[in-house]
Amino acid sequence: LFAGQTDFLKGVVAMSGLPPSDRIEVCFAGRSNVGKSSLINALTGRKGLARASNTPGRTQEINFFTVGEDHYLVDLPGYGFANAPVAVVEKWQKLLKQYLSGRQNLRRAFVLIDARHGIKKVDEEIMSLLDSSAVTFQCVLTKADKVKAKDREAVLKQVREKLSKHPAAFPELILTSSEKGDGIATLRATIATLI
Ligand code: GTP
Ligand code: MG
Repeated sequence: LFAGQTDFLKGVVAMSGLPPSDRIEVCFAGRSNVGKSSLINALTGRKGLARASNTPGRTQEINFFTVGEDHYLVDLPGYGFANAPVAVVEKWQKLLKQYLSGRQNLRRAFVLIDARHGIKKVDEEIMSLLDSSAVTFQCVLTKADKVKAKDREAVLKQVREKLSKHPAAFPELILTSSEKGDGIATLRATIATLI
């Protein structure tokens, strides 16, 4: 899956620009800088496919990638702090929420959580939005390479506890590192069962 069959389709700045919802898609949501674009690059094995950067707020559009003829992967702008003008951020946050709550063909949202920090208040707000929109979501912990083995359990425990309060949460967690490759095959296999 993915290798050699994923391509950038378009970047969308308004709901009217969304491609027709005629095929199944999965999306990657999460706080600014959590590693959404990097994860898409790791999954597809194509480094420059989704633009990643150390500046929070790099992705400012909803970016659609085609997987073969029948599926989309969707890279979302981050929520929370972003290094961009307030008016611009507000515009894309509104778009993000509209997309997450109103996309019929969205099979699952992967909500990325920094493995060093666990679930924050802004993550819970997005999770509540997904609950009320009945969009199943699954947490993917990112940047596992930056967490010491001894600190891992505490974060996993916090994440499990928080998730237990969200009816739309799919309970299985995936710990990943786009840098080192941990968990990428597992995530790829999970997506393959969905699309
Ligand atoms: P926005 O588009 O701004 O919301 O950010 P994003 O969530 O798409 O994050 P992005 O993929 O651009 O990555 C942000 C920074 O984290 C970059 O400097 C990446 O190199 C770094 N990063 C991403 N994944 C990993 C990882 O698994 N390990 C490490 N060490 N760094 C990572
Ligand atoms: Mg990004």
